[in-house]
Amino acid sequence: MEKARTGLTSGYILAITGASGAIYAKRFIEYFSKHQMPLNCIISDAGRRVWEIELEGNIKNMLPTSIPLYSQNDLAAPMASGSFLTLAQAMVILPCSMGTLANIAQGLASNLISRAADVMLKERRPLILVPRETPLNRIHLQNMLKVSEAGAIILPAMPGFYHRPQNIQDMVDFLVGKILDTLGLPHEFFKRWGSEK
Ligand SMILES: Cc1cc2nc3c(=O)[nH]c(=O)nc-3n(C[C@H](O)[C@H](O)[C@H](O)COP(=O)(O)O)c2cc1C
Repeated sequence: MEKARTGLTSGYILAITGASGAIYAKRFIEYFSKHQMPLNCIISDAGRRVWEIELEGNIKNMLPTSIPLYSQNDLAAPMASGSFLTLAQAMVILPCSMGTLANIAQGLASNLISRAADVMLKERRPLILVPRETPLNRIHLQNMLKVSEAGAIILPAMPGFYHRPQNIQDMVDFLVGKILDTLGLPHEFFKRWGSEK
């Protein structure tokens, strides 16, 4: 992605993996696009496939042109390097597959997503993993504990119901709003408990 290599590569990193929940990533992208905030996307091969299955389209055609998209094999991308992290504010893996979680937990850094996550951890930068898997086996749980102890935040895709969601979009917004809260970014994606708005 030449534009990102030569131009501004600061901002946030969104990694989309092959877990169910591409709709969350789409909504997250919409927030950054609407607020014209810098975002760099990475997608795994499985992530591309699940996006097509769940959203009935190709991510390339659905992503605003201002947002660079890297493939999991692009190990020469800026975020594979520690120096990029002086600019990167946070990385969110949304949704996060158990495979990518395991890759990060073992420190394999075998593709751009796990390498970028590895860099975020070593540089002590915010890293949020959003798993969707259920039920969880002992390996999943151990891997979550490992990455949590290494500094990552595990933010499972678990909907709340106290804001009385009326449809799928409300449930998606609740989850994406929780991620934005964790990043310290303002939003009105859901009504807060006890508030009128
Ligand atoms: C429709 C679909 C839904 C999937 N949902 C999940 C899921 O929720 N969680 C998960 O860990 N894997 C899920 N998988 C399997 C992953 O895509 C698979 O393990 C893949 O190797 C993950 O690769 P990645 O981590 O490089 O994206 C799903 C696969 C498909 C085709």
